Amino acid sequence: MKTQVAIIGGGPSGLLLAQLLYTRGIESIVLERKTKEYVLGRIRAGVLEQGLVSLLEEAGCAERLHREGFAHDGTLVSYGDEMFRVDFRKHTGTPVIVYGQTEVTQDLYAAREKAGGQIEFNVENVVIEGADSDAPRVTYKVDGEARQIDCDFVAGCDGFHGVSRQTIPLDVRREYEKVYPFGWLGILSETPPVNHELIYANSPRGFALCSMRNENLSRYYIQCPLSDSPEDWTDAAFWDELKRRIPAEVADKLVTGPSIEKSIAPLRSFVTEPMRWGRLFLCGDAAHIVPPTGAKGLNTAASDVHYLYNGLRDFYENDSTAGIDSYSAKALARVWKAERFSWWFSSLMHTYPDQSPFDLKMQQAEIEFLRGNEAAQKSMAENYVGLPY
Ligand code: FAD
Ligand code: DHB
Repeated sequence: MKTQVAIIGGGPSGLLLAQLLYTRGIESIVLERKTKEYVLGRIRAGVLEQGLVSLLEEAGCAERLHREGFAHDGTLVSYGDEMFRVDFRKHTGTPVIVYGQTEVTQDLYAAREKAGGQIEFNVENVVIEGADSDAPRVTYKVDGEARQIDCDFVAGCDGFHGVSRQTIPLDVRREYEKVYPFGWLGILSETPPVNHELIYANSPRGFALCSMRNENLSRYYIQCPLSDSPEDWTDAAFWDELKRRIPAEVADKLVTGPSIEKSIAPLRSFVTEPMRWGRLFLCGDAAHIVPPTGAKGLNTAASDVHYLYNGLRDFYENDSTAGIDSYSAKALARVWKAERFSWWFSSLMHTYPDQSPFDLKMQQAEIEFLRGNEAAQKSMAENYVGLPY
């Protein structure tokens, strides 16, 4: 087979890129290791920046988002029983949109199907060959049958455990990593959210987050040891622990119910440089991971897609390599800022096993500074709603 852009990975990055390229008449084939049902079954991010919303609009995939998504003008931060609000609208003029990654992915699949876009599921043994030549190709297997795609470019949108990053030779690739000594235990429950805006909670027992998907679907997280597994936590134990970590006035209002999903995610900061090698471009989690505090993972994947899409347009429409040549530098400049914000917000909100009494005092002083300082709140708001592309 032949195409212009071979896209490895049918998660949000790969699908969004394919759909945007389609709007410009640029052909692609998406290769996905799992089934569509598996991809749609993963519960992940829930907060979208305006930049991602605009890209979805450009891709013609924002209709349901505009109907069903919720604009949030601020968020709450609590420590012990104290709580304050950071006002996004006042400080930036921009809200964020609460709309699940699952829904975004579903909308993108629907659009790809409507457009007759080619997606191969259940692919195995994906190998990228000749990425440093003018004629790259991707080989893979489906049902034991070997296949090959000859293409102009390869977009590596295959997440943290994909093959694309590993294709870049070790003497070219530089990786930066910080692994956090805890995870997030998350549950989804068909209960009304405890508050109409998100609550990020710092407590002596560890971090908690009260989030949501809609009026009757809540998403809650608590910091937990990495050695825990979801089976260690009954629903009752989860709710009890969550209540201990949020202000009493909030805990009193919490409506509990059975969980319909329960999972643990480890926390990691990770960046690989460069994000381009020859005709291979890394996008999203394939190139970088943020700890989830601040909801930057999906949004940072989207800004990569923006830069790559525009670079490829420049190539096909204007016969210019300027956009693809500057892709890595442009994407990384924004990635590092999202990494900084996610690292800062994680450091502010979690309990660390090796935290000294002095470290704890510093954390508390920083939260109180944020509470009382408009400039600090503006800085947080600007980062939370998303830095400009
Ligand atoms: P992915 O969503 O990982 O998609 C990559 C796709 O590539 C997958 O479908 C995978 O099956 C496929 N693939 C992998 N290898 C191959 C291969 N060899 N061949 C073909 N296909 C392959 N972010 C937030 O902002 N908030 C959150 O609450 C949050 N929670 C998360 C929880 C978990 C458990 C994880 C893992 C991530 C979470 N994130 C969260 C991060 C966010 O979901 C990601 O940043 C986002 O999914 C990135 O999209 P992506 O398309 O780049 O990668
Ligand atoms: C959600 C996840 C996050 O990491 C975050 O910062 C906010 C919301 C969520 O899944 O709803």
